[in-house]
This record gives sequence, C-alpha cells and structure tokens, in this order.
Amino acid sequence: MRRKVTKAIFPVAGMGTRFLPATKSVPKEIMTLVDRPLVQYAIDEARAAGIKEFIFVTSRGKNALEDYFDHAPVLEQELRKKGKDDLLEVLKQTYMDSGAIAYIRQHQALGLGHAVWCARRLIANEPFAVILPDDVIAAEKPCLQQMVEAYEETGGNMVAAMEVPPEMASSYGILDVSEDMGSLAKVKGMVEKPKKGEAPSNLAVIGRYILTPSVLKTLNHMKAGAGGEIQLTDAIANEIDSEAGVYGMRFRGQRFDCGSKAGFLQATVAFAMAREDLRDDLESFLREIVQVDKAAQ
Ligand code: UTP
Repeated sequence: MRRKVTKAIFPVAGMGTRFLPATKSVPKEIMTLVDRPLVQYAIDEARAAGIKEFIFVTSRGKNALEDYFDHAPVLEQELRKKGKDDLLEVLKQTYMDSGAIAYIRQHQALGLGHAVWCARRLIANEPFAVILPDDVIAAEKPCLQQMVEAYEETGGNMVAAMEVPPEMASSYGILDVSEDMGSLAKVKGMVEKPKKGEAPSNLAVIGRYILTPSVLKTLNHMKAGAGGEIQLTDAIANEIDSEAGVYGMRFRGQRFDCGSKAGFLQATVAFAMAREDLRDDLESFLREIVQVDKAAQ
C-alpha cells in the first residue's frame, strides 16, 4: 500500500520584500485576509488533507508566527472571565497538538529548494507535502486534499498546476507535458521562469507539492539556479525520468497570489465577499467607489 502523506513543510523564511515596509516587523504569513492570517488558511488546508505533522522553515523575525500557534493563557483567562465562549472557540483553530508543529531555521534565504532541504531530517524517508502559505486557494474541496486523493492513485511527485496567459508564463515554473489526462498531466520537463516565447505550455506550477524523499537527496548537492537561488523546481525536474515520475494536477479552485499586493487585495475582497456578515456592506461600498471612479474619468 502507498504510504500516506502526513507531513507538510511550510517554507516561510523568505523576506517578503514586496510588502516592505510592513514586513520589516510583521511576517508576511501573519498578514490577515479578513480576520485570519495567511498561515491559518494553509494549516486548515493541510489538516483537511490529513496532515498530522507541520514543519515550518522560518528565519529571523518570524517569532509572531510561533506565538500564533501557542496557547495564550492571559487572553484565554480574560475571555473566560467575560464569558466570551464564542471567541474562545475561535481561538481553537490556532492550537496544535503537542509535538505536531516544528520550527527549523533557514539561516540564509538561499531559495525555496534550500528552505525545503533544511527540513530533511524531519522528513526522513517518506513522501511529504509542501505548502506555500502566500498562495491562498479558495476551493470547495481544499487543493491539497484534491492532490492527496490523486496521489493515492498515481504516487510519485505531484505539483499543483494552473493555466496562465502566455504573457504571465515568465513569472512561474512552467510544465512541459508528455501526456494530458484532463485533471492530471504527466510531466516531461519543467522550466523555471521561461523567457518570453519559450514556455513549453501554459501550465504553471503554484505553491502546493507532494514530493518523494528522493527530491531531498537531489537537493543535497544542488547549486543555485535561476535568480541565484536553489530552486525547488530544478530538484523536482530531476525526478521526471525516475520510475515515480512527476504529475501536474489542475486543481479546482481559485488561487490568489498573496505574495503580491494586487493578489492580496483581490483575495481580501473575494474572501470578504464570501462572508455573509460582510458581503452586503462591502458590495455596496465597492459599487459606490467604482461609480465615483468612472464618473471622475
Ligand atoms: P517568494 O519568492 O515569494 O519570496 O518565496 P519572499 O521572500 O517570500 O517574498 P518577496 O519576493 O521578497 O516579496 C516563496 C515562498 O518561499 C519561501 C517564502 O517564505 C515563500 O513562502 N522562501 C523563499 C523561503 O522559505 N526561503 C527562501 O530562501 C526563499
């Protein structure tokens, strides 16, 4: 039987320069969509997919992230005293079982591949998931759960893929597909941030992966690739000719790039509009400002 995926790595050691000055003191993953930090969406998605061990690769200045998953006795006591049971309930989503969460430091931001490699000893010899919390995916069935279900059939390595317009391809890792089976595509090549006109397809890799431990072995001796960083894509590409192979999965859902300002704002609006308590007010506000804007043009 195929080994279940129960461990996930959350690489959060990047500097988040696109959100400076905010990220000078606030980790990007703690920034909130409506009332929950990005990292909460990632943890919920992992839990839904059956993940039991949560490994964060962090860096200096990310203490707020560790505190977020800790109990807060003074706050809890205060809420209890005031009879705010509903808020105590809200806090429960932030608690982790003892020993279920681990933090590893990436001492230097040498790239996503290097960040994942930093967690190698906690992964040992089993398949694992990687979730980038700044890719937030709104989906009926959480994206990683869709992938785990597909992985149970295929095994091997799997990356979440979405179609992008040709002019956007140079911002992503792009898949070269040998066999397209609808929601799954067998991969025969991967190009990180291809030059204009050189993308082998319109299928872009986004921040969800299920990987074999062999990817970690490749990372053991990998040198910096595109952008001077150790690229995870390059290590995954090394698996293409292995027996396990690499699959791209077209997930069902909408992905927001919350690592960019525009994506973060779009996600904020989309997640707020999905909330019954906020939808009506927000919608009339948005209509109003769009009209004012049009009138001014
Ligand atoms: P990004 O490319 O978005 O980089 O990393 P960043 O530093 O977070 O943000 P910008 O570009 O400076 O604004 C993608 C993911 O990989 C992690 C990041 O934390 C993010 O989750 N990462 C990246 C690391 O953990 N370590 C690295 O060395 C690089």
